[in-house]
Amino acid sequence: MKRVFSGVKPSGNLTLGNYLGAMRHFVAMQADYECFYSVVDLHALTVPQDPEALRQQAISLAALYLAMGIDPERSTLFMQSQVPAHAELSWLLQCTSYMGELSRMTQYKEKAEGQESVTVGLFTYPALMAADILLYQTDIVPVGEDQKQHVELTRDIAVRFNNRFGETFRVPEPVIPRVGARIMSLSEPTKKMSKSSDSFGDIRLLDEPSVIKKKINRAVTDSEAVVRYDPVAKPGLSNLLVIHALCSGESVAALEERYAGQGYGAVKKGTIEAVVSVLEPIQVRYRELMATDEILDILTAGAIKAQEAAAPTLRQAKQAMGLNV
Ligand code: TYM
Repeated sequence: MKRVFSGVKPSGNLTLGNYLGAMRHFVAMQADYECFYSVVDLHALTVPQDPEALRQQAISLAALYLAMGIDPERSTLFMQSQVPAHAELSWLLQCTSYMGELSRMTQYKEKAEGQESVTVGLFTYPALMAADILLYQTDIVPVGEDQKQHVELTRDIAVRFNNRFGETFRVPEPVIPRVGARIMSLSEPTKKMSKSSDSFGDIRLLDEPSVIKKKINRAVTDSEAVVRYDPVAKPGLSNLLVIHALCSGESVAALEERYAGQGYGAVKKGTIEAVVSVLEPIQVRYRELMATDEILDILTAGAIKAQEAAAPTLRQAKQAMGLNV
C-alpha cells in the first residue's frame, strides 16, 4: 500500500481553509493508503508561542483530526515532538540543504518580512518538514497550495541525498486539490484565509453557527450583483462559491446555475447552511472527545507506531552519511 504523510501546525485556531484544502482529503485517503498524520508541534515553535496555550492547542488539534474522521485503527496519528526521529533527521537534512534554496521559500520571506528578529528555526523549517515526510518513505503528501513549494524542496533534498549517499529516501509527490487549494479570507478575498488573519476573515472550525452566519454575511463581495465564478474580477463571490460547493458537494457550475438571477444574499444564505452542515457534526464529536482521556492514549500509541516506522530510515540515513550507528 502506498504511504501518505501530512501534518498541521497547532499554532492557533484551525480554519475552514485547513479543512477544505487539506484535512478532509486526509480523511478520504485513509481508504486507499497507509496514512501518517501528525500534529507538528515542533513547527509551531518557529514563532513565539505561549507554552500552556501551545500544549492545549496540540491536544485540541488531535481531537479535531479524530472528530473529522481520522481513524486511529487505520491511520497513525501522533504528536511530532513525541517522535525524536523528526528532530534528528532534520539535523542531517539541514546539513545537506543550502542557505540559497531555503532563502527562496515564499513562506519564510512572508513571515520574516518586517520582523525585527527572526528565529533560526523559521529559516530551517523546510528541512524539518522534509524530515517529516522522508522518514516514512512517503509516496504522497496532501497539502494546500501554500505548502507545495516546501514539498518540492523536499523532493530536491531527497534526490540530492540519494545521489550523494546512495538510495535512502523515496521521492514524494505533493497532491494539491483541484478546487479549494487556496481558500481566501472573507474580509480580504485576495489574501489566503489563515489562522492568524483578522477575526472576520477566517471561519474557524470551532466557530458557533451564529458566528459563521455573521462572518459570511459580512463577507466582502462586489457591486455587480451577477452570480458568476471569476476569481480575478470577483474574488469574494468566487471564494464563497468554492466554499459552498465543497461543503454541499455540488460543482461551482451547478451553483452558478442555481443562483442565476438571484442576489448575493441568496448565495450567502446557501453558503452558511452548507458550512454549518459540515462543521456542526465535527464540533459535536470534538466536544465529546475533549471530555475524555481517549486522545492521550491514542497519541501515545501513535507515537510508538510512528517511531517504529521511522527508525529504519533514520538509521539508514545516519549510516549513509558516515555516522557510527
Ligand atoms: P499549516 O498548519 O499552515 O496548514 C495545514 C494544511 O492546511 C492547508 N491550508 C490551506 N488550504 C487551502 N486554503 C487555505 N487558506 C489554507 N490554509 C492552510 C495547508 O496547505 C496545509 O496543507 N508546514 C505545514 C505543516 C507541515 C507539513 C509537514 C505538511 C509540517 N510538516 C509535512 C505536510 C507534510 C504547515 O504549516 O501547514
